Amino acid sequence: MSRAEAERCVLAGRVAVNGVRTLDPERPTNPERDTVSIDGRPLRAARKVYLAMNKPAGCITTAKDPLGRPTAYDLLPPGAGSLQAVGRLDADTSGLLLFTNDTDFAARVADAGGGVEKVYVARIGGRLRPEDARRFESGVELDGTVTRPARCRVLESDERAARVEVTLTEGRNRQVRRMWEALGYPVLELERVRVGPVTLTGLAPGRTRPLDEFERTVILLEEH
Ligand code: URA
Repeated sequence: MSRAEAERCVLAGRVAVNGVRTLDPERPTNPERDTVSIDGRPLRAARKVYLAMNKPAGCITTAKDPLGRPTAYDLLPPGAGSLQAVGRLDADTSGLLLFTNDTDFAARVADAGGGVEKVYVARIGGRLRPEDARRFESGVELDGTVTRPARCRVLESDERAARVEVTLTEGRNRQVRRMWEALGYPVLELERVRVGPVTLTGLAPGRTRPLDEFERTVILLEEH
């Protein structure tokens, strides 16, 4: 169930910890030691699920949209259970979006302090000057703080536009777009192609696949 549904169950008095009813949804429990039951039936932790999605542009990363726009959650396979997107991609950004019900895993990937690399391919407008690619790498001031060191590889470049591959270790709101805009280049297209060891290879737009054990382990063991 969702966090909100779980909270309602606790407040309705349906939940007990070690046989004692609790009305406190924030009551700490240790899944290794405590037995949590609902309506007298003991619960087991949900099986951990880790999915990679190739989000198409035009979908938003919110479970429910008051404006009725298509969401990435609509594309999850039936029966995937209650999963959360790990971080967000803008509606107009396509590419790799992870989903899980493992909060530790999600925290590792999303951690603003860095660790897990996120790689994007961007098409930016204007003639890219090499010194601006270096400025992108050494950090750009956004909201009063300088972004962490990044990498920028120029894939193609002409008088009117450039295609660049950029690697970040943080995930601030609309970070890639705002960094290029701060340097004077509009982002015309943006796709995330890799998160840590997970790539988009073989994953068609709109499709999902489970992460394999190697991918999960590398992310959980990533240095911080
Ligand atoms: N940076 C952006 O600007 N947009 C995204 O969706 C992800 C990273």
